[in-house]
Amino acid sequence: MKVSGKVAMVTGAAQGLGKAFAASLLANGAKVVISDVNSETGEATLKEFQDKYGEDNVLFVKTDVTSQADMEATFQQVRARFGGLDIMSNNAGIMGETSDLWEKAVDVNLKGVIRGTNLALDMMRQDKGGRGGVIVNTASIAGLMVVPTAAVYCATKHGVIGFSRSWAASPVCTDNGVRVNALCPSFVDTAMVPPESEAGEELKTFLDEHGLMSVEYVAEGFMDLVQDDARNGAVLKMGQIVGKVYVEY
Ligand SMILES: NC(=O)c1ccc[n+]([C@@H]2O[C@H](COP(=O)([O-])OP(=O)(O)OC[C@H]3O[C@@H](n4cnc5c(N)ncnc54)[C@H](O)[C@@H]3O)[C@@H](O)[C@H]2O)c1
Repeated sequence: MKVSGKVAMVTGAAQGLGKAFAASLLANGAKVVISDVNSETGEATLKEFQDKYGEDNVLFVKTDVTSQADMEATFQQVRARFGGLDIMSNNAGIMGETSDLWEKAVDVNLKGVIRGTNLALDMMRQDKGGRGGVIVNTASIAGLMVVPTAAVYCATKHGVIGFSRSWAASPVCTDNGVRVNALCPSFVDTAMVPPESEAGEELKTFLDEHGLMSVEYVAEGFMDLVQDDARNGAVLKMGQIVGKVYVEY
């Protein structure tokens, strides 16, 4: 897909990976709706993007991906402002293993991705008047392996991969011009990864061996999943081991 002139929406885009994905889309000429539950950081990111990429090309909408009403209202704003949707990044995610947080982690990481995918598909599918498009769901390398310290996170990311691959194989998508892909990074330098001083021994050892990828580097993989029309049902693994980068489909 040629990104220039297309309309995109990114969830969890106030900071971290979502912000980097939005920046790459804007740099390539897309119009982008950045959405996030954190309005303070979201507004600051909006200002930064407007200054760099033009006031009319970007919109911030405060959106909680766990709320159906919020998400529907945001999609309505996307349609009202930009007339449709071509690129959807379901990216918002949190860690949450404790008894008071695990259900929220499932709500954000899995149900939020399902909600965003279903709403995007409804707007994109050609049999409902859409233009086709591409949906990229942020999973994680944790969606493909065992994570003894983060079973809930691991389960949600396994779910995102199965969900994305299943939609990608469905005629509802293949007959209607919609591709669905999953992005699976290893550790990335964002607020989600605790600073070394707060990291447990296991994480410290892992980080010593694997290091942290930059958000800009992972955004290159994201853009490949968006731009390459041959990628459907793709599961892109990105990471590094002892400084050696790997990118694998
Ligand atoms: N950082 C990593 O090492 C890493 C590795 C693999 C996958 N991921 C995934 O990448 C995605 C982005 O994470 P990040 O590393 O940029 O972390 P981050 O914490 O920097 O960014 C996450 C963003 O999501 C937003 N968010 C949280 N709950 C939300 C909700 N209910 N509704 C809307 N927005 C919400 C936050 O406000 C924040 O802006 C997540 O899905 C995460 O699981 C991260």
